[in-house]
Amino acid sequence: MNDPFVFHQALNGSTFSLTRADVDRALPDEHLIALAEAEFARRLSLDGIHGRRHWRRVLENGLILAHFNRVNPQALALFAIFHDCQRHSDGRDPDHGRRAAAYLQQRREIIPLPQADFEGLVRAVELHADPVFSDPDPLVMSCWDADRLNLGRAGILPDPARLCTPPARQLIDWAWSRDQNGSW
Ligand SMILES: [Fe+2]
Repeated sequence: MNDPFVFHQALNGSTFSLTRADVDRALPDEHLIALAEAEFARRLSLDGIHGRRHWRRVLENGLILAHFNRVNPQALALFAIFHDCQRHSDGRDPDHGRRAAAYLQQRREIIPLPQADFEGLVRAVELHADPVFSDPDPLVMSCWDADRLNLGRAGILPDPARLCTPPARQLIDWAWSRDQNGSW
């Protein structure tokens, strides 16, 4: 637990290190986190399977993927905190992505992203729960992979065929063992 590193590995010959402090620094502004928490907590427990611990894992996965896929890490951080904010249930809820995308579109002025990344974020949120495994924008695919790499928390081994980017497929074993050791 004292290990400062969330991640320290080489993929394809390039080493990337991510510390807990790096993750803390990458969090969106406090007022955005408060907004996401308030919205989520209207219906579900923040300590549940789609709550804050999941957001943190998605953020960690997302920062690693943002590095290797060369996309905006800020968009991954916003995806992490908002993608499940319109869930009505911790069970099957096939439209929660579309509701969360509409929620973000109504709040464009407070989302600190350039327009192209904002559009990617909205599409990633909109479709993240659908059986879609490819998109022209690597930012969108990185968001989906960041979420799907945390399926280990529910005892589901991420399926390489359902991951979109090569770095994510290489991270399956790392993400799985991390989620199985009880600290997810
Ligand atoms: Fe999620």
